[in-house]
Amino acid sequence: MSLLTVMPSGKTIEVAEGTSLLAALLGAEIAIPHKCEGQAKCGSCHIFVQEGRKGLSKVAREENEKLDSIVGVGSKSRLACQAKVLGTENIKIELLGFGSGL
Ligand code: FES
Repeated sequence: MSLLTVMPSGKTIEVAEGTSLLAALLGAEIAIPHKCEGQAKCGSCHIFVQEGRKGLSKVAREENEKLDSIVGVGSKSRLACQAKVLGTENIKIELLGFGSGL
């Protein structure tokens, strides 16, 4: 179990090991775009991981390729549908908001 803090609201939720950030957010009724339903194809679930990066699953090839095609990606970028909580560290993420055109 890890604690997930979601900025900018600051809401904190408990997330079980193996759960994707997208599933955790949707399960807590926190809105996040997810146009391809977690297939690493749309990039709409792009978020920034502010803390606890090591507490998430590694970036796989599909995620890396999709991130490469998104404008505004930085070293903290992940796709929420691909990043799974490992349960080893608490995590803080930043939602990037809607209307970014993705
Ligand atoms: S929901 Fe489409 S890339 Fe994550």
